[in-house]
Amino acid sequence: MTSRTPSRLTLGISLMLLVSAAHAESSAVATYRDPSKPVAERVEDLLKRMTLQEKLGQLSQSVDKDSNDNLNNVITEGTTDSGVAVGSMIVGKPRPEQRNAMQRIAVEQSRLGIPILFGNDIIHGASTIYPTTLASACSFNPEMFRQCCAMAARETKAGGIDWTFSPMVDVSRDARWGRNVESAGEDVLLNEAFSIAAVRGYQGDRPDAPRPIVACLKHFVGYGASEAGRDYCFTEISPQTLAEVYLPPFEAGVKAGALTVMSAFNDLNGVPASGNRYTLTDILRGRLGFSGFVVSDWKAVAHLEAQAFAKDHADAARLALHAGVDMDMVDGLYVKHLPELLASGKTPAAEIDEAVRRILRVKFLAGLFEKPYTEITPVESRFGRPEDLMLARKMAEESFVLLKNKDGLLPLDAAKTKRLAIIGPLADDRRSMLGSWAGWGREEDVVTILAGLRAALPSCEIRHAKGCEIKGENRKGFDEAVAAANASDVVVLCVGEDAKMSGENASRATLDLPGVQEDLVRAVLATGKPVVLLISSGRPITIECVEGGARAIMAVWQPGSRAGDALANVLLGAVSPSGKLAMTWPRSVGQVPIYYAKRQGARPGSGRYVDASSEPRYPFGHGLSYSTFEYSKVRLSADRLKKDGKIEAVVSVTNRGAKPAKETVLWYLSQKAGRVSRPMKQLKHFEKAELAPGETREFRFAIEPARDLAYPDERGVRAADPGLFSVRAGTGEPVPFTLED
Ligand code: BGC
Repeated sequence: MTSRTPSRLTLGISLMLLVSAAHAESSAVATYRDPSKPVAERVEDLLKRMTLQEKLGQLSQSVDKDSNDNLNNVITEGTTDSGVAVGSMIVGKPRPEQRNAMQRIAVEQSRLGIPILFGNDIIHGASTIYPTTLASACSFNPEMFRQCCAMAARETKAGGIDWTFSPMVDVSRDARWGRNVESAGEDVLLNEAFSIAAVRGYQGDRPDAPRPIVACLKHFVGYGASEAGRDYCFTEISPQTLAEVYLPPFEAGVKAGALTVMSAFNDLNGVPASGNRYTLTDILRGRLGFSGFVVSDWKAVAHLEAQAFAKDHADAARLALHAGVDMDMVDGLYVKHLPELLASGKTPAAEIDEAVRRILRVKFLAGLFEKPYTEITPVESRFGRPEDLMLARKMAEESFVLLKNKDGLLPLDAAKTKRLAIIGPLADDRRSMLGSWAGWGREEDVVTILAGLRAALPSCEIRHAKGCEIKGENRKGFDEAVAAANASDVVVLCVGEDAKMSGENASRATLDLPGVQEDLVRAVLATGKPVVLLISSGRPITIECVEGGARAIMAVWQPGSRAGDALANVLLGAVSPSGKLAMTWPRSVGQVPIYYAKRQGARPGSGRYVDASSEPRYPFGHGLSYSTFEYSKVRLSADRLKKDGKIEAVVSVTNRGAKPAKETVLWYLSQKAGRVSRPMKQLKHFEKAELAPGETREFRFAIEPARDLAYPDERGVRAADPGLFSVRAGTGEPVPFTLED
């Protein structure tokens, strides 16, 4: 957004009011104001009444830069230079009163009364923060994630926001990239499932009703493939991989009804994603059937110039609009340059109209014309409801991944745990538990690991020592940490990354524990005490040098507001861990990118390193439980099927443990040969269920060729190849079957 002086502010408001007075419409008769009329009719009616300036206002998104409750500032940011209200504003804080005041100006004082769509990044919770998306994906529980997103939607709306820039559905296969944390990880199906769950959670399940809030699938497309894991960078993705890996989570979200999509920063095969007509129009609208509107990422229109694609800012505006970017996020280039582009004939009026049409349609569907204002509820009832905190805790419990549990060190026996050392820079760190993009989550509301364990073990002698900071070289705290370990029976060692080491523009060139934390772990391990290593991070971490010494290791990610409660429940065995990795953990950064669904190599042992193993430290799908689940062989209802047929795979799973526990059965398919070489295996179905001790349950996968065996070609046309396939459950043996011609 261009900066404005106070005089411009005054000019902006007075112009707006002048326009308002001069062109007052009789609102009672206008079709667009009549909720009984079809949305398409309302849109067309409104569009034909609009001036060019009003249209350009709708194509603009501004940002409320003011952290104080200063309405004048919001008004300045909320109006274009010609005094019309913008189409959307990004508002960082929950300030419903201020939103309503601004909205009142747009709705009651502007000529046509078009409401503003207020947006924000609500990524894994608004006020009640649940685990990051990467962590939540490890739960393999999209239904619980849907509930979390519905909770976030309620809090978001109560805070005065109608639209979240979420979910991020960028398949992420490079652990160096900081934004893995915002995605559901490396797998296509898991990203699809979490994309659908988020859209349904945010927007509700009733397409005929106003959406609770509007969802935004981002970043379209291929952003997760940034070269060397560096943010905002170039990506090179073949059309085949685009169709098979990067597009499906967007398609799933579009089919689930997502009303908006955000265009990405990355240059894709030489054409930046925010100026890419092929992806934004031919694919997104033509192939995937998207009918909502596209917003650019932050100043991504202006970036087209920096990316050596547009000649100047005017050219950038022309290219982005033509490509299919309907709303220009914060750089103001549409407002500034479209009049001249229109006058010179470089931009057709129809392109502007079409973008406005799409934006208005979403506003109608969101119910903004009927309910433009946020209901002002008592502050205490907006956020922090007990049922919401409970949900955040449960999601956290399901997101932890028990990587190792030698000799069954976990769960700790609360009755026998008399002396416990809780060590490490993450033990009592509130901020890091919230992760990046923590919405309006407040540090003071976080239950830290230390606080959670203290509350759960009131009669245990607990020693706490930080040991060191997350970053930096200072080892002065090591002695205290070692002494605490020596004076205890068990050590819970909490290490990892801080919240800002992942997220946007937070790539890493190493994946080791930062600072001197590895040395701290070594020093504590040297005491010989049993150590439970808890790793809190926004990405996979390489722990090769300390892995052997720790008896138990758990990836706890960034669990959110109820971190400590959830961890106490899992560490002490009230809940058995049930998370499985949504992203492969490498042994060293040199193995990256490393993911399970890779294509076959030419020779046995292809991909060998002379100086390291080629195997991951912990593969995708790895995750232990306190129970042992015994899998039967997979049984197939037939070993041949036709293209329009179906066969059922069944596996019996028995809980051999002494407690109830949840297990997720991951069903993988492999194909012997295809018209395009196939990945070694692909997750095609998963199901999670709780099993009582001794219970045997049958898990089923009904294999349908069109859904499970077909894959798209580079034009997106899906077909299945006849031939030999195999199916397996978890790490079980593959069972072959044939798809007939
Ligand atoms: C990020 C988006 C985000 C936007 C608005 C950008 O820098 O890439 O993910 O939604 O800012 O905050």
